[in-house]
Amino acid sequence: MSEEDREIDLIREAFEQEFERFADLNVDGVGLNDAEALLREVGDLKVRQTGKRSKIAEAKKLIGQVAADKRGAFGQLVQSVENKIISKISYAETKLKNHISKAKTESERLDVTIPGRRFKTGHLHPITLLRQKIEDIFVSMGYAIEDDREIETDYYNFDALNIPEGHPARESQDTFYTTDGFALRSQTSTVQIRAMERRGAPLRILAPGRVFRRDTPDMTHTPMFHQLEGLCVDKGITMAHLKGTVTEWLRRMYGPDTKTRFRPSYFPFTEPSAEFDFSCFVCKGSGVVEQQPSAISDQLTARCRPCKGSGWIELGGSGMVHPNVLRACNIDPAVYSGFAFGFGLERMAALMFNIDDIRHMFENDVRFLEQFR
Ligand code: DAH
Repeated sequence: MSEEDREIDLIREAFEQEFERFADLNVDGVGLNDAEALLREVGDLKVRQTGKRSKIAEAKKLIGQVAADKRGAFGQLVQSVENKIISKISYAETKLKNHISKAKTESERLDVTIPGRRFKTGHLHPITLLRQKIEDIFVSMGYAIEDDREIETDYYNFDALNIPEGHPARESQDTFYTTDGFALRSQTSTVQIRAMERRGAPLRILAPGRVFRRDTPDMTHTPMFHQLEGLCVDKGITMAHLKGTVTEWLRRMYGPDTKTRFRPSYFPFTEPSAEFDFSCFVCKGSGVVEQQPSAISDQLTARCRPCKGSGWIELGGSGMVHPNVLRACNIDPAVYSGFAFGFGLERMAALMFNIDDIRHMFENDVRFLEQFR
């Protein structure tokens, strides 16, 4: 072997040695970062072994100096060694690049068959559900839903409603006042005045809203609660219309067998006035419910709970709108008459949903609220 050929053989050997760790490279299980590091190392090796200042590049420069008769063979030798080096390196590079691209695809893979994460959606509050149900019934009877302010002057909260000076409701013991002397409305009856002033007669409105009273919170009282007020004013309206309307509403809510009862009462803004009750939706008015005999009782019936055994549930107040109230709104009581009624939503909800303490309704505890989906 000539000296030049020997030189080329050494170059090839030096390459084989440096390249050894990549010769039978097994990429199975190699992580993305490691594979990228290996690719950089192969890149560096390529520069060293095939770049402008590599041994093989130097050898190529010698070709011209070799004796003419050996030049062809030497040239072929150098070329074949260089080709081998290049093809081995690019084989390793290709292997790594393929592996990297596969690993990248794998890490970015999106499995569209995995079930989606369900959003936690909210739902309406039991008071809202009940209010909307009642609103729907009255809207179907031609009533408009009326919304109005929660802070009122004494005039709207009391005077216009025929509540005289010195009435206990006007005391600061019972009603919240702002420092400017405005009252937080203690009943939705204030909306009667606002609506009649704005719309005049005839009118039919249903006014839901918050009311405020200085009550100490307990199982059946909260200083803020909700009322629903109904008002109908037209020519020839009588107590029969009041009874018919209230009965129809409660029948649609609790079933066609529901009965109503009106008991004489007193409210400053109605004359005559009545409180209204309806037959219990659990015992259907009997006052008793069937029960399974148990270890503590062999009785087959028990006292009905919502109506406390009376068969009747007391719901609210009502009456024929007092002539003074109509007059305060510039409606002539000689031409028009009307009925009105009002009741609390929390009590009704507590009975229907079997809630023992109405304070739960304002504590925003989802464990409580979730039961009314
Ligand atoms: N505002 C009364 C209350 O809070 C309820 C009431 C009674 C409303 C008679 C009325 C009515 O419209 O006519 O107890």
